[in-house]
Amino acid sequence: MSMKPDLSTETTGKTSRRLTWSTRFGFILAATGSAIGLGNIWKFPYITGVYGGGAFVLVYIGCVIVVGLPLMISELIIGRRGRQNPVGAFQVLSREGSPWQIPGWIGVAAGFVILSFYSVIAGHALAYIFKSLPGFVGTADQIREQYSSLKNSAGSSIAWHTMFMVLTIAIVAGGVRRGIERWARILMPTLFFLLLFLMIYGLAFTEGGAAAINFLFNPGFSALSAEGVLSALGHAFFTLSLGMGAMITYGSYMKKEVNIVRDAVTISFLDTFIALMAGLAIFSMVFAYGLEPGAGPGLLFETLPVLFAETGPWVAVSFFVLLTFAALTSAISLLEVVVSYFIDKRGWSRMNAAIIMGAVIYFLGLLSAIESIKVPFRGSPTGFFDIFDFVSTNYMLPLGGLLTGLFAAYVVKDRIRSEEFGSSGGLYRAFVVVLKFITPLAVLIVLLHGLELLPFMDYGN
Ligand code: PHE
Repeated sequence: MSMKPDLSTETTGKTSRRLTWSTRFGFILAATGSAIGLGNIWKFPYITGVYGGGAFVLVYIGCVIVVGLPLMISELIIGRRGRQNPVGAFQVLSREGSPWQIPGWIGVAAGFVILSFYSVIAGHALAYIFKSLPGFVGTADQIREQYSSLKNSAGSSIAWHTMFMVLTIAIVAGGVRRGIERWARILMPTLFFLLLFLMIYGLAFTEGGAAAINFLFNPGFSALSAEGVLSALGHAFFTLSLGMGAMITYGSYMKKEVNIVRDAVTISFLDTFIALMAGLAIFSMVFAYGLEPGAGPGLLFETLPVLFAETGPWVAVSFFVLLTFAALTSAISLLEVVVSYFIDKRGWSRMNAAIIMGAVIYFLGLLSAIESIKVPFRGSPTGFFDIFDFVSTNYMLPLGGLLTGLFAAYVVKDRIRSEEFGSSGGLYRAFVVVLKFITPLAVLIVLLHGLELLPFMDYGN
C-alpha cells in the first residue's frame, strides 16, 4: 500500500484547480464503494428480516428512487460546483456567514460519529475472517457464543477496531487517486464476484433459494408496520451515504463534463442491486437451514456461522472478506469527508489530516468498542454503539439531507437546470418538486419519529 501522498494533485480550498478522479469509471467505483457497505450486507438483510420481507423491500426501493436519488444528484452537484469539502462547498455557493453552512458542519460531525462505531463492526468482520479459517465447530449455541465473547471482550474488540482504522487511515493518506480510487478498483470488483459466488451458491446449491426469493420479492403487506416504513426511509439515507456530505466530497473531485444525473442513477442502482444480492445469498442459507430470518443485528455474526459450520470454511471466509471490503470502501469515504475539511479549510497536509483525525475518530470509537460502558439513553442504559448508530441514522443524516435538498432546490437551482438536465425540462421539474415537497415531508416524519413525537405511533410512554 502506497503511503506517498498525491502531491501532484492536491489543492487547497482557495485554488480553483481541484484534483479529480482519473476516470469516470474510477469515480463510479469509489462512490459505489462508499454507498455499498455494512449497510447493504449487514443492516439491510437483518432489518428486512425484522420487518417481514417483501413489503419492506418494496417500500425501501421506493424510498431510494423518490428520496435518495434526487438527494444524491443534489449532493454531487453541490460538491462539483463548490469544489470543496462539505463546509466549504456550502460556503462558496451561498453568502458569507450564511446559515446554509450548517448542513456542511452536520456532515463533518457525522463523519466522526459514524466512522467511530462503523469501525467497530467492521473490526468484527475482520476478526471473523480469521475465525472462519479453521472452520466453525461445536453446537449451534457454542458457535453463537463466539460472537458475544468477541463483543464482550474489550481487548479483542479494540484490537480489531485498531487494525481496521489503520487500514482506513493508510488508504486515505494515500490520496484521492492513488489511495481511494486505486483501492476501490481492486476491492469493488472482488466484492462483486464474491457476492455473485455466494448468491449462486445460496440460490442453486441450497434448498432455501425459492424461499428466499419469495421472502424478498413477494410483498405481504400485512407484515409491514409503520415502524418498518420509517426504517426503510432512514436506511435509504444511510445506505446511499447521503445527508452527511460524503457524496458532496466525492462530487468535488468530479470532472466538469461528467453527467451527474446518469452517474447518480448508476450508483443508486448498483447499491440497491448489491443489497438485494446480499439478501438473496443470506436468506437462502437462512431458510435452507431453518434459521430465524428475524434474528436482528446478530444475523451475520451469530446465525450465519451456524450454517458455515456445514458449508465449510471457504464459504465463510469469502463471506467475511466480502463484508470487510465493503466496510473498508465506506469507511474511507467517511474519513475523507473529515480529512478534506482539514485540508481545504485548515491547510493541513493530507497525511497529517488522515493520521490525526483518524486517531481522534479511533479514540471516539473506543467508547463503542467497550460494550460494558453504558449510559442512560431514551430511558434505559445503552451502549455507545447503539447511541451513535441511532443518533446518526435518525437525527444527523435526515437533518443534513433535508437541508441539503432544500439548498439544492432553492439556492443552486437555476444554475442546475441547464447544465445538469439539458433539454429534459420535465425531469428537472420533477426533481425540484421532489426536493421542495416530498423529501422535506419524508425527512420530517423520520425526524419526528426519532424524537418520538409522531402522533399516530405508540411509543409506550
Ligand atoms: N453507505 C454506507 C453503508 O451502507 C455507510 C455510509 C454512510 C458511508 C454515510 C458514508 C457515509 O454501509
